[in-house]
Amino acid sequence: MSAVEPHWERLTPADVDDLTVEVLRRAWRARPEVRHIRLQGEEAVVKDYGRGGSFFKRWILGTFLARREATALRRAEGIPNIPRVLATPQPWSIVIEYVESTPVTALRNQELAPEFFEALSRMVECIHQRGMAHGDLEKLDNVLVTPEGEPALVDFAAAIIAGANPLAALALPYIRENDRRAICKLKQKFAPELLTDDERERLQRRSTAEVWFRRVRKYIRRPVKTLAGVNGDRD
Ligand SMILES: Nc1ncnc2c1ncn2[C@@H]1O[C@H](COP(=O)(O)OP(=O)(O)O)[C@@H](O)[C@H]1O
Ligand SMILES: [Mg+2]
Repeated sequence: MSAVEPHWERLTPADVDDLTVEVLRRAWRARPEVRHIRLQGEEAVVKDYGRGGSFFKRWILGTFLARREATALRRAEGIPNIPRVLATPQPWSIVIEYVESTPVTALRNQELAPEFFEALSRMVECIHQRGMAHGDLEKLDNVLVTPEGEPALVDFAAAIIAGANPLAALALPYIRENDRRAICKLKQKFAPELLTDDERERLQRRSTAEVWFRRVRKYIRRPVKTLAGVNGDRD
């Protein structure tokens, strides 16, 4: 960052339009709009639930998810290749550091080195040690690769954070296990020859509690997505 930091806190949606380098993801139903922006030579990413969708998406879901992501990212601060929170210009949007990278899902015929998976496992264990779980690593586009071949992680909107609510402590062990399984899934897809017997077994294993937790989550998410999408202009 330069000596005079850009005023990320004061960003309006119109500023974001002007500063956009690339729209990384369009807003859609419950999903935020994600844009890479540049201000005074500094790069950042804006994740905004206020674009498209309903009043519910902006004021309730967006505010909840943006706040949860900001809390998780602040807890993770200092872990390399996890973006720092720069600002929360609106209750439903956050500005985070831009990480120069490519989503692993965009890699074509490219093998990921064993060191990549070792570094990713260490990163995920660091996150867990800080009293949380990522919660959405199964979506492989949340795992990025830097130009140096190192892993980077984004999208902490589904993070489970110890102490956030009484259910979090109950869910945490299952979501942590889910995070670890997601790494095995990634390995299976990109470098299956690196899978150990333990990892193969982990890919098959799901406890009854986890199966039920996932069912309940799916049951809750369906109406939430519908509410978020109604009356929405899709930009
Ligand atoms: N800080 C960042 N630096 C670089 N790219 C990012 C960053 N945050 C997100 N992205 C890119 O934008 C995509 C969508 O962002 P994400 O936070 O995963 O939103 P969604 O909740 O819609 O999945 C990611 O898959 C990644 O490719
Ligand atoms: Mg994502």
